[in-house]
Amino acid sequence: MTSKISLTRYLVEKQRIHDRIPSDLRLLLEVVARACKSISHAVTKGALGDVLGSAGTGNVQGEIQKKLDIIANEVLIEANEWGGHLAAMASEEMEGIYVVPNRYPQGEYLLLFDPLDGSSNIDVNVSIGTIFSVLKKPEANGAGVSEQDFLQAGNRQVAAGYCIYGPQTTLVLTVGDGVAMFTLDSEQGSFVLTQEDVRIPEDTREFAINMSNMRHWAAPVRRYIDECLAGKEGPRGKDFNMRWVASMVADVHRILTRGGIFLYPWDKREPDKPGKLRLLYEANPMGWLVEQAGGAITNGKQRILDIQPGTLHERVSVILGSRNEVERVTGYHAG
Ligand code: AHG
Ligand code: MN
Ligand code: MN
Repeated sequence: MTSKISLTRYLVEKQRIHDRIPSDLRLLLEVVARACKSISHAVTKGALGDVLGSAGTGNVQGEIQKKLDIIANEVLIEANEWGGHLAAMASEEMEGIYVVPNRYPQGEYLLLFDPLDGSSNIDVNVSIGTIFSVLKKPEANGAGVSEQDFLQAGNRQVAAGYCIYGPQTTLVLTVGDGVAMFTLDSEQGSFVLTQEDVRIPEDTREFAINMSNMRHWAAPVRRYIDECLAGKEGPRGKDFNMRWVASMVADVHRILTRGGIFLYPWDKREPDKPGKLRLLYEANPMGWLVEQAGGAITNGKQRILDIQPGTLHERVSVILGSRNEVERVTGYHAG
């Protein structure tokens, strides 16, 4: 009989047999998964748990916070602050970094998260998620921890993932040797390995972009989508399908599952902003997952994981997914 592999066993074997992760990182990932389980319970309760609706406050991005944005942020902080594995945390919902309080031991890792991705979908019962990225505190920066320690390129991540709260709750993880998916068995209360070696097909006939912004796009993006829309009769010679969930986790999950291309490009609405999505806790972790599954991610000009961040909440233009399509869009930018 083949026994089910729990996330705990998967991580223990990653540490003991494959020597891929140190024990502190294993603990960190277990704790993040536990926090996601608890967020998943809150999400499932919905109106019965009084978790829907606005919190009546704003975050540093100028966005109105939903109750669940704040609940998820608190769950992640409370779960992670006492274990001794972290030095500090950073979140979409907090302006500055959260340093582990003095009463707890300080570890060497830094955790970044988008506690609740897809906030506009909470109240309408559509898939949402939590995105996370793990870095190591640079030794060169000395004792203590500062915002500067978080400003590392995505290629320095030591773990990244997301948990999607949809028809199933699924945790998707990379520690740099491929992508694995774990489905939450809510009766047992544990994440069970349901897919390993996730691969994104190199070609696709499915794109994801918010079409309502079409008139604001730059020429290369406009050209790419125009050609997709022209279908069989156009230069691509094939018909395309479109999806847009408005939760990056859900769009990326679909792409990891069946391929596709996702674009949230720069547009003319706010020309001074490079894009809408955040580099450190949205684009970098999703980008690493996509690359680890054989896909690609770019801002049109540069591999996103090579961008040196300047600020904690920096934004970036994002094009990710099936390799050949991402390369095509990159080519249009170069031209
Ligand atoms: P968040 O809920 O964390 O602010 O992120 C929402 C993001 C992303 O998940 C999604 O792809 C995008 O915003 C949707 O934006 P539009 O509403 O502009 O389509
Ligand atoms: Mn988000
Ligand atoms: Mn969010």
